[in-house]
Amino acid sequence: MLSLWGAAQRATAMQGGTLPPPRFVFLEINRSCNLKCGHCFYWTENDDDRPDYLSGPRIQEVLSEFRDMNPAGKVVICGGEPMLDLETYFRVTRQCLLLELCCLSVVNGTRIRSEEMADRMILEGPDEISISLDSPDPAVHDRARGVPGSFAKAVAALRLLVAARRRQPRRQNRIFVMGLIFDESYRDLDRFYDLVLNDIGADKLKLNFLQPSFGGSDGGDAFFAAHHRVDPEELTRLIMACAAKYGLGLNPVWLQQVGMYFRSLNAGRQMQRGWWSPVRTREHICNTYERNIMIDRYGMARLCFSHAFRGMQLKHYGDLRRFWETSEDVRARMRGCNRLCGISHSVRRESSTRAATEASAGEVSPGPVSPQGTTSAIVRPCESM
Ligand SMILES: C[S@@+](CC[C@H](N)C(=O)[O-])C[C@H]1O[C@@H](n2cnc3c(N)ncnc32)[C@H](O)[C@@H]1O
Ligand code: SF4
Repeated sequence: MLSLWGAAQRATAMQGGTLPPPRFVFLEINRSCNLKCGHCFYWTENDDDRPDYLSGPRIQEVLSEFRDMNPAGKVVICGGEPMLDLETYFRVTRQCLLLELCCLSVVNGTRIRSEEMADRMILEGPDEISISLDSPDPAVHDRARGVPGSFAKAVAALRLLVAARRRQPRRQNRIFVMGLIFDESYRDLDRFYDLVLNDIGADKLKLNFLQPSFGGSDGGDAFFAAHHRVDPEELTRLIMACAAKYGLGLNPVWLQQVGMYFRSLNAGRQMQRGWWSPVRTREHICNTYERNIMIDRYGMARLCFSHAFRGMQLKHYGDLRRFWETSEDVRARMRGCNRLCGISHSVRRESSTRAATEASAGEVSPGPVSPQGTTSAIVRPCESM
């Protein structure tokens, strides 16, 4: 049955005690990585315990159960750098195609190095492919990513994807850039949009604001301490100027929350403690508990990425639904949570654009498409987070 849960319906349903189905499943497939980003520690991990990861058949079962819960649901493939495990990566994307679930993924671009791989991404890969760029300035990106040449690889991957989509227009995948906004990149916003939209010809630059380092421990977060200072007024002005110049159709509530986020950081203490710093956003801006299930590589389901809230180990078909329907205690605690991750695309309530806000107000199931892409052009209402 087609699920038609608009934003207003969702809110009314939640208030009335009816639980709408989850809209997103975030599926972590690995932890290893081939870059060395200062803002992320995943590259210090490995996949040596892969035998304990959720198995291929169990992943398939979980995706099928998600499809049964919400035929208009969206699957987000997470890592590490998920394209280091191509077998699992494309198994998940193909299963999403077969199940008619929209699939999204963010990658660092290093594994899209040929026309063949770009064609494969367009034909068998995610509906929405985002490549991360930390700046339009190669030197800033390479420094943040810890590996010289990573900017050139990311931009080359984007160009290969744009060209591949021209060759293979049937699926209409979206090609985005996930752009990190931190002290060294925010003043370059105009150049960032120009590079992404005009030079590369990607569909969108998604602004992603620096949070404490991913995967960090309480042992210190030098990157976050050194790079979180962004002038909120200047950033807001720059975003508004780009919105006018590039016709971005931004959501003013989101923009106000971006300013609030950096004001909260600037007043914060113990920033070198990263996620363990006491700083919180001044407003509650997250709604992950109304829409998301995050599943880690071992099959532990949670309502957000934080381990501060309980999860449930998924063992059998039916567990996904059981977890979703029996987590009211977690939701009650999360409704009062102002942790810094609230600003992330994955969990915040407000979309950055009015178009995305409207799209999520009228979610419909994606059109049918086969793994071989044998149907004609299909515009998938797959707008992400
Ligand atoms: C964890 S990465 C995984 C996918 C892939 N390895 C990549 O870099 O695109 C997903 C996204 O999180 C972003 N990210 C990593 N650390 C971050 C941080 N501390 N604050 C905000 N975004 C961060 C990355 O830039 C990337 O766009
Ligand atoms: S952000 Fe992505 S590319 Fe950078 S270390 Fe983390 S997982 Fe790797």
